[in-house]
This record gives sequence, structure tokens and C-alpha cells, in this order.
Amino acid sequence: MDNQKVRLGVNLDHVMTIRQARFTPYPDLKQAIQLAERAGADGITMHLREDRRHIQDDDVYLAKQVIQSSMNLEMAATKEMQDIALNVKPENCCIVPEHRQELTTEGGLDVVKHNERIKEITSALSEANINVSLFIEPDLQVIDASAETGAPVIELHTGTYASCVGEKQKLELKRIKDAVKHATSLGLVVNAGHGLHYDNVSPIANIENMYELNIGHSIVAHALFVGLEAAVREMREKMTTGT
Ligand code: PXP
Repeated sequence: MDNQKVRLGVNLDHVMTIRQARFTPYPDLKQAIQLAERAGADGITMHLREDRRHIQDDDVYLAKQVIQSSMNLEMAATKEMQDIALNVKPENCCIVPEHRQELTTEGGLDVVKHNERIKEITSALSEANINVSLFIEPDLQVIDASAETGAPVIELHTGTYASCVGEKQKLELKRIKDAVKHATSLGLVVNAGHGLHYDNVSPIANIENMYELNIGHSIVAHALFVGLEAAVREMREKMTTGT
């Protein structure tokens, strides 16, 4: 696959983290969506967490109205979230594990342990024509278990890759490449994300058959200095050229 075509899903959670720190009406989600899309975002991603620390329920409904590209709603596999997704009907839903005290999504879904619930939610969302993806570790056994749930997409957790350097990072990159190859051979569409930034994104974006990267924190952080549009554009450039 031509790496020019690797899609960028821009995660706007942390624009809303700033709003929720003071419960102000700003920064405005609609404006953020429009700027990200104008800069070339192929999709807008947001995580409705159970503790509502950044994205709120109303944001999800508003985003569905405003987004022109496609919406990816990240959520835990709870009945509450399932009902919200069925009301909102985003194009894509990414099922993630969630622990209340974590800073961010730590680790991938345990698809083997929660197999029944994941199958249930995948089937309910798929019936509503929502593309379901499972956020998992780049582990061949977990990929096999994911394929069995009927979810058409997986998102590989790049957190370990992002948090190490040197030889360790090379090994982790190889693990992700092997995972993409294996998942593709099973007919799964493969996305990736978590901890990706301007200096580590290129090797991941250049993996053959990578479909989409979902990136948030680094883009919103860079936007403080260059603005959101420029931050999204720069990320696109890093994904395609690596420079
Ligand atoms: N993909 C998933 C499934 C996530 O949970 C997150 C974090 O919300 C991201 C991508 C984006 O991670 P980051 O903010 O580190 O770019």
C-alpha cells in the first residue's frame, strides 16, 4: 500500500481536557473539528470515558453533526457506551479497555478473557452498520482471538513502541510489523495508535498495509505553538515523508 494513503484520525480528547480543567465554554469542539478536517484529517476520534474527564456526552452528539470526514468513537465495552453508540451511530467504534485511575489507555483489550462481551457488543454495533475495531496489543494470539469475535478492524497499541528507544524500540517495531502481516492475512483491517508523535510516527506509518493512525496528545501539544491546522498538517507530512 502506498504510504501516502495511510489515514490520519485526529483525536481531539485533549482539546476538551483544557475546557474541562475550568468548565469553560472554550476551546470549542466544533472549531477544532473543522480546523483538523481543513488540515487534512481523514477522521475525527474521541474517547467518551466513563469518568467523562474530557469528552462529554453532548460533545459526541455535536461531533456527529459537525464531522464531514468520519467519526471514530472510542469507548469501553459497557452497556452504557453501547447504548450511546447505537444512538449516535458513528461510522467507527473502537472498543478499548478502561481502568478508572489510569492516565490514559494502558494496555490493550484482553480479548480472550472478555470474549463473550466483546462478541456481543461487536455484533450489536455491526448490526447498526458501525465498523467495530478492537484496541489490542500487537500479539499474534490476541489477533487470532480478535478475528474470531467478528470485528473487522483492529487497532494496535503502539504505547510500548513509543515508550522505548534504541534496540528495544526496533524489536517492538518488528513485533508490530509481524502483527500487521498476521492480521492482514486473516482479513483484518489494521489501525494503530497511542503515544505516536512527530519523531516516532514515520516507521509506523510506513508499515505495509497499515490503514490508519489515530493520534491525539502530540498533535494537541504541538498546536499550542503552531495552531491546530499546522499541527495536523505537519503530522501528515511526517507520516508520508518522515521528515
Ligand atoms: N487510539 C486509542 C485507542 C486511544 O485510546 C488513544 C488515546 O486516547 C489514542 C489512539 C491516541 O493516543 P495519543 O493521545 O497518545 O496520541
